[in-house]
Amino acid sequence: MFLKKGRYKIERTLTAGNFGQTYIAIDQHSQFPSQEVVIKKLKPQQNDPYTLQNAKRLFKQEVEVLKKLGSHKQIPTYIDDFLENQDFYLVQEYIKGKDLTEELKLGNKLGESEVIQLLFDILEVLDFVHINGVIHRDIKPSNLMRRTQDNQIVLIDFGAVKEVGTVLVNQQGEKTITVIIGTPGYMAGEQGQGNPECASDVYAVGKIAIQALSGISANLIPPNSLLRNQNNDELLWRKGVSVRHELGNIIDKMVEQNFLLRYQNAGEALQAIKAILPSNVEQPAGFWMRLAADLIDRTIIITGSIILDLFMYGVTVDGEELTGRILVFYIIAGFIYCPVMDSSKTQGTLGKMLMGIKVTDLQRRKVPFDQATKRHSSKIFSYLTLGIGFIMAGFKRKRALHDIISGCLVIRSS
Ligand SMILES: Nc1ncnc2c1ncn2[C@@H]1O[C@H](COP(=O)(O)OP(=O)(O)O)[C@@H](O)[C@H]1O
Ligand SMILES: [Mg+2]
Repeated sequence: MFLKKGRYKIERTLTAGNFGQTYIAIDQHSQFPSQEVVIKKLKPQQNDPYTLQNAKRLFKQEVEVLKKLGSHKQIPTYIDDFLENQDFYLVQEYIKGKDLTEELKLGNKLGESEVIQLLFDILEVLDFVHINGVIHRDIKPSNLMRRTQDNQIVLIDFGAVKEVGTVLVNQQGEKTITVIIGTPGYMAGEQGQGNPECASDVYAVGKIAIQALSGISANLIPPNSLLRNQNNDELLWRKGVSVRHELGNIIDKMVEQNFLLRYQNAGEALQAIKAILPSNVEQPAGFWMRLAADLIDRTIIITGSIILDLFMYGVTVDGEELTGRILVFYIIAGFIYCPVMDSSKTQGTLGKMLMGIKVTDLQRRKVPFDQATKRHSSKIFSYLTLGIGFIMAGFKRKRALHDIISGCLVIRSS
C-alpha cells in the first residue's frame, strides 16, 4: 500500500489502536535508500463537516507542537503530515529499539540505581515537554522506547495528537471530548476526570518506578495498595521492595492521590532525582582500590591455574613447561572468570566485590556478557601501551583504556 502519491510504501503495521494505526513505511523521497519511517494514522470519529474541520484544526495545532518537540534528541523527529481520504497522517523518525514493556515485564525487578537512572532519563525529556506547555497524557512502558544505538530513552505517542480521533463537534461548534486519553494504572485521578495536569504525567512516571522496583505491572497494582499504612505512614508498595528512603519518598510524592501534593511538573521531580542520581552517590572507583581488586583476582586465577595443572599433570619438575601451561590456563581462566563475574548479578569479580567496586555501562547499568568480554579482551591494549592503559584509571576521568574501549565504568557500589 502507498500513501501520499507513492511517497510512502507501507511495510507493516505496528499497532492498531482505538484511535488509529501505526505503520512502518519506506520513505521513497528520502535521500537515504529504503529509509524507514513511522506513520501514524488518525481517524476522526465522524465524517461530518464540523467534526472534520475541527479535527483538522486540532491536528494542525498538534503537528506544530510535535515539530517543536521533535527537536529534542529523546523525541522522534517530525518528518511530514498530510490528509488523505479524510484520515490524518503524521510521519516521524523511526526509532530502532524496543519499548520498555520488555524491560518492565511482570516479575522483572530492576535495581535501585537502575530505577533512579530510568527516572532521570524519563524526567529529563518530560521536563522539556512540560516546559513547552505540553502534557503527554499517556506515559507508560509501551510509549517509552529504549533506543538501541545509545541506550537512551525516547518518548513517543503524544496523547494530544490522539485527540484528533476523539473529538466530536456539534452543530453549535462545541467540542466534546468523547474518550479520555490515558491508560488505567498509569492515569492519575484528575486526568481520569478529564482534567489532565503536568502533575498527571509525573504520577504516571511514579507508577512506572513502582512497577520497575516491584516487578508488578501498574495495571495490576490496585489503587488501594497505595494507601498509607496507618502504623508507620509508609505507602504499601514498599512491601517486599528494598529501597532507600530517599528514593521511596520521591516516588511517594510522585504518586500522591491529590495532585496538589505531587511534584507539579517533571522539572520539580527531576530536581529531586538529581540529588540521588548514582553519579552523585556512586563515585568512580579509586586507582588503589582497583589495583587491590586486580591483585586479588590475579591471585585467585593463578591459584586456580596451579590447582588445575596439579590435577591434570600431577607434580612436575620441568619449570619452563610448567610456566607455559600455567600461563595458558591463566589466560583461558581469565577469559571465563572475568566476563562471567562482571556480567553477573555481583557486577564484578571477587576482587572487586571485596573492594566494594563494580563494573557498569555508561548509564551505570549492569553490563551484558558480550560487553564484559569486550572489556576483558581490550585489556590487551592496556598491556600493549606498557601499562599506561591501566594507569589511566588513576587520572582525573578514572577510566582505564579498556574501560573506554568497551564503554564501561568501574564505580564504588553504594
Ligand atoms: N517512532 C517510532 N519508532 C519506532 N517504533 C515506534 C515509533 N512509534 C511507535 N512505535 C512502536 O509502535 C507502537 C505503537 O505506537 P504508538 O505511537 O504508541 O501508537 P498507539 O496509539 O497505538 O499506542 C509503540 O509501542 C512502539 O513499539
Ligand atoms: Mg502507544
